[in-house]
Amino acid sequence: MNMAVQRKIKRIEDWTVWEYDSVNSTNLVAANLPAWSAVRADTQTAGRGRFQREWVSDEGGLWFSAVVPAEPAILPLVAGLAVCDALRELGVKNLRLRWPNDVMVGQRKLAGVLIDRFKPGVAVIGIGVNVNNNPAGRDASLQNQTERLADILAVPVSVENLMVLLLRHIRLLMHALNANEVSSLLSRVNGLWSKKSRVSLDLDGDIVLGSFEGVDAAGRLLLVDALGASVAYNFEQVRHLTEVPEL
Ligand code: BTN
Repeated sequence: MNMAVQRKIKRIEDWTVWEYDSVNSTNLVAANLPAWSAVRADTQTAGRGRFQREWVSDEGGLWFSAVVPAEPAILPLVAGLAVCDALRELGVKNLRLRWPNDVMVGQRKLAGVLIDRFKPGVAVIGIGVNVNNNPAGRDASLQNQTERLADILAVPVSVENLMVLLLRHIRLLMHALNANEVSSLLSRVNGLWSKKSRVSLDLDGDIVLGSFEGVDAAGRLLLVDALGASVAYNFEQVRHLTEVPEL
């Protein structure tokens, strides 16, 4: 059972935002809410990443979910773009995306995005951003793997203000999607990868190696294999992408 204690319901621009001290996962709390709702919690007891991996959600980070009235295949890419746009506006430098929507500063992960589609016609965009929290304090394997805003911003930002900024950018990009600006959105996404990086793809057990070339007009991952052939993979086909350091 979810033992959430609800604190407040707020209107923020076009969004209705539910805030809690602690929930299991904000995506699960958002599952039954209508479009343009959002859920934020100070901590999550069962925060999840892609493929049900655990997501450390300790006090001081931003853990929230936004419900949007659409479920296009490229939504995961557009959600990563919205996070980058918001963080760049705050002054974060050297941002990049690691497919599909890990938000990185150099080799360290600053934010992650998990899209859930619980019912037709709406999607839940779950976003986690390390702000003042200390993920490696909870999970030693994250040592030197994560970045947090407290260590890279000259002027601190509160989790509440960061959420307002992110909601604004999600709304803007949802309008762009509705206005069919897909190709310009994808070209902006393609500007955020480390291009032509060596990667290995886990295709549900089968591992393939190659050079990551970005995404095509349908949002599929493009990989050039060892023989120079370009292969396109749908989002669901790729369980995990690992960047392989150059020799
Ligand atoms: C990933 O990088 O694998 C995605 C991480 C997504 C974490 C966020 S935190 C808010 C929302 N609730 C969850 O349980 N997960 C997402």
